[in-house]
Amino acid sequence: MNAADPATLYPQHLATLRARADEALLRSGHEHLLIPSGRRHYQLFDDRDYPFAVNPHFKHWLPLTRVTDSWLVYTPGQRPKVIYLQPFDYWHVVPEAPNGWWVEHVDVHVIRTPEEALPLLPGPAARCAILGEANSALGDYVPNNPAPALDYLHYQRSYKTPYEVALMRVAQRKAAHAHRAAERAFRAGAGEFDIHMAYCEAARQDATEVPYQNIVALNTHGAVLHYTELDRDPPTESLSFLIDAGASHCGYASDITRTYAADRGSEFQSMIEAVDAAQQAMCAGVRAGADYRQLHVDAHLSLMGILKDFGVLKVSPEAALATGVSAAFFPHGLGHPIGLQVHDVAGFAASDRGGTIARPEGHPYLRMTRVLEPGMVVTIEPGLYFIDMLLDEVKKNGHAASVDWARVDAFRPYGGIRIEDEVLCTDGAAENLTRPAFAG
Ligand code: GLY
Ligand code: MN
Ligand code: MN
Repeated sequence: MNAADPATLYPQHLATLRARADEALLRSGHEHLLIPSGRRHYQLFDDRDYPFAVNPHFKHWLPLTRVTDSWLVYTPGQRPKVIYLQPFDYWHVVPEAPNGWWVEHVDVHVIRTPEEALPLLPGPAARCAILGEANSALGDYVPNNPAPALDYLHYQRSYKTPYEVALMRVAQRKAAHAHRAAERAFRAGAGEFDIHMAYCEAARQDATEVPYQNIVALNTHGAVLHYTELDRDPPTESLSFLIDAGASHCGYASDITRTYAADRGSEFQSMIEAVDAAQQAMCAGVRAGADYRQLHVDAHLSLMGILKDFGVLKVSPEAALATGVSAAFFPHGLGHPIGLQVHDVAGFAASDRGGTIARPEGHPYLRMTRVLEPGMVVTIEPGLYFIDMLLDEVKKNGHAASVDWARVDAFRPYGGIRIEDEVLCTDGAAENLTRPAFAG
């Protein structure tokens, strides 16, 4: 028996979700938990559907990301029930018959039309906490998303079970393999579109399957934080390559960024190595009790230290942080929770009864403000960019003397650097989930 096998780990995961559901129902005052998998959405005035995105609560219970109009039903003390739509449909491939490690742990009811779920749902509807989108309503069963249940479940979702971590490790390996293919394509002279295709081919996932749109940026495009244009032709000369791309596995996401210099002897390569070393030190800071807001502020100081070493910054890191100059070079957050969603829920949650922990002033894009605890998985993704729009603000705000503009001119053609890994917080040392995936 393999201890990392999801089949081995699933019963404990299910027991954890059942215990969480028991508490959520107590808090919301309902007797049953109902989770519709979701319905297809259609484009306006058209019969084209959007790529289906399953209800994250549904895929938390079951490794199913493609089944629509299905339901997870849980009543405390009873085995979970799965109402599974397998339609008669000769236009599309229908979901295969229920199979996999989850089947023996639940009662499965196969239905042929969405309406057949109705008599299988526990009544009355008013006694059900129904977590889902409005368009999942079926008869009286209208999603009510009770806040006490959602606040509790979202907060608890931060603590990944061993089953979830095992699936997330696979998502890491798929992405790391594809990142290597993308680097090879870059070094062979491919343009953005072809690098993207090389990535998808290696990941065996198309653009609708990867957990977010691939960011494949050559040269100055690396300075656009979420660059997704994918130029069809290679530039005249490729100096640098920033790729932020993940992979999905059983509904879990990975989110990895790497930056490369074409010239391994260049100053830009040295700067990448400095950011990489700093990033690994930041990853080691993912420890129980660490305040993620402090990690973010510490990251500013560390990155500004690098800019000082490379002669871009003329003032101390502390001064650059105080004046806002550091935010022009590092204009996003250090990272975010990740799991069933790339930007997972509850990054700001003050407690399992609601409330929000505010971002530190002057850091509007930070997506995680909590104190770290064992079981949480977060990204650590420091970056340094040369973004004219933001550097113009530095000048306008009277801080031009903080920067050596000739050095900015030297680095501008390379766009920027971001290095991103996922890190598991444990009882002891941080566990980087991404680095071993590249090493393997
Ligand atoms: N890929 C989006 C992010 O890193 O948050
Ligand atoms: Mn990220
Ligand atoms: Mn990313």
